[in-house]
Amino acid sequence: MKHPQQKKYLFLLFSLLLMLTSSFATANKLDETTAAMKLTPNIDAGKKTYELCAACHEKNGWGKEDGSFPVIAGQHRSVIIKQLADIRARNRENPTMYPFAGDDVLGGPQGIEDVAEYISQLPPNPSVGKGPGEQLEKGKKIFEKSCAACHGKKGEGNAEAFFPRIQGQHYAYILRQLKWIRDGRRKNANPAMLALIKNMDDKTLSAVADYVSRIKPKESQ
Ligand code: HEC
Ligand code: HEC
Repeated sequence: MKHPQQKKYLFLLFSLLLMLTSSFATANKLDETTAAMKLTPNIDAGKKTYELCAACHEKNGWGKEDGSFPVIAGQHRSVIIKQLADIRARNRENPTMYPFAGDDVLGGPQGIEDVAEYISQLPPNPSVGKGPGEQLEKGKKIFEKSCAACHGKKGEGNAEAFFPRIQGQHYAYILRQLKWIRDGRRKNANPAMLALIKNMDDKTLSAVADYVSRIKPKESQ
């Protein structure tokens, strides 16, 4: 049996190692995002890579009405790059996509930039899956009070700040993300947003998700 003091040191050493690896992972992810942002995109190469993504996100990037696969068409390039970097760093729980987020598929920062540029230029989905439509007034109030400051008046997001476009997204996907963010399942969540929604119940989240899903995407405004 080890001396208790020895055990304590081993534990401390182990914790230190854990802290080091996780901060390396974060630094790596940020490096990848910034590296990709600085490159000039090759849209043809991006189109080629996208053939793999189309298996789930559909050829036009419109995802599925049931929200199993999100709309990604027309999302800001910066947001796509950050999400891809987060997914590959396992900073976002998305196991179905892990095999498609590695260097072998995406080809490093340049490959990420290419496919992100291609997706950001696809026209948005004009007819997404919607919610029950019973609490739209309530949803609108919450959106204007708590969400528009970051995601924009029409949910158009903000490319420079990495705030996602959320207008014209499937209701079921928005609701799932809101629940996952509230419940701490989405590790890359924005802390200020988390603080805002952490006391909202499912019904309130459903109201705001329903409202947001009905805001027309950019090209039909
Ligand atoms: C096997 C299915 C599958 C494939 C293939 C796939 N994805 Fe995904 N992707 C998903 C799922 C599922 C989600 C949403 C996960 C969640 O609910 O958090 C997602 C989420 C995303 C997101 C985040 C969207 C957002 O609004 O935050 C991006 C960006 C993305 N995928 C890009 C890609 C790209 C680029 C490719 C191809 C290289 C790809 N995906 C291939 C299933 C897939
Ligand atoms: C302080 C700024 C801020 C506020 C306020 C905020 N958000 Fe967010 N939100 C973010 C950021 C940043 C992300 C992306 C985090 C990341 O990098 O994954 C995000 C992500 C999301 C996502 C996931 C998008 C996707 O494509 O996966 C949804 C949905 C969302 N927010 C809805 C809302 C709603 C609804 C409200 C109001 C109740 C709200 N947000 C308030 C900053 C904010």
